[in-house]
Amino acid sequence: MCLHCPAMSERPEPLILTAQNQPPPAGDQRAAPPVVDVRDLRKEYRTSEHQVTALNGVSLQIAPGRFIAIMGSSGSGKSTLLHLIGGLTNPTSGSVVVEGNDLAAMSDRERTVFRRRRLGIIFQDFNLLPTLTARENVALPRLVDGQGTADVRARVDELLAVVHLGPRAEHRPDALSGGEQQRVAIARALLNDPAIVLADEPTGNLDSRQSLEIWNLLRRIVVERGTTVIMVTHEAAGAAFADEVVVLKDGQISGRFEPGGNGDASIVSSAYQQLVG
Ligand SMILES: Nc1ncnc2c1ncn2[C@@H]1O[C@H](COP(=O)(O)OP(=O)(O)O)[C@@H](O)[C@H]1O
Ligand SMILES: [Mg+2]
Repeated sequence: MCLHCPAMSERPEPLILTAQNQPPPAGDQRAAPPVVDVRDLRKEYRTSEHQVTALNGVSLQIAPGRFIAIMGSSGSGKSTLLHLIGGLTNPTSGSVVVEGNDLAAMSDRERTVFRRRRLGIIFQDFNLLPTLTARENVALPRLVDGQGTADVRARVDELLAVVHLGPRAEHRPDALSGGEQQRVAIARALLNDPAIVLADEPTGNLDSRQSLEIWNLLRRIVVERGTTVIMVTHEAAGAAFADEVVVLKDGQISGRFEPGGNGDASIVSSAYQQLVG
């Protein structure tokens, strides 16, 4: 099932990355300029009754073409971090630079266009329009951009094939399983060939078989298309598909590790437990 699984006997121990670690060797993917460069990010939410510090000084550089999993208990700041990377919300302080572009230097309109062209975003509840077919849902971002249906059709069919949904192209969401709906959402996220796909608990509403399909698909997108995928998950089995796991605790990064890329959840679980204490 796993595309990149070495024999179990070759199972590597996770490498815990620390600030003291040596830089990666030349030629290593991790030596490339980061596609995401987050510096000293803070996010406070203020309501009339109280103030919550959701992120408290997060710095994170992500090299292109990597699959990053963000783990942490509920309320640790995972969604907030993803939303800030996607420019969906503004930080209280600190900076987010994506593909060399400082999101704070853009107008709201520029950020919206940048997001639509360079980022693909996937949510737990799929966010498909119920009255549109799978094909129309995938095409929607380009139709919003003012492009004609004929131009978009070939591209949409190619993406439906990537997510193995060609025969279901004319189905509406209520005629698709949860896993199929999420695959439509992934095809839609890939429409503009984004640099980064952001996924917030993409398998939160799916059973384990469908979850496995989604993780494999995200892994394939990284390997075959060179897209950077940043996925929030609380499932060790999902994080095991990532190149690197970033663990958040109380709005701070408590550690990062490389699960070894063999899809082994037990390695992720034990490293995660060490980091969350
Ligand atoms: N819009 C908001 N208004 C007020 N508090 C919020 C808002 N969004 C998140 N929070 C709070 O910020 C903290 C981090 O939330 P979140 O990033 O959603 O965590 P996670 O995704 O790890 O569960 C939590 O305490 C949460 O209640
Ligand atoms: Mg969340």
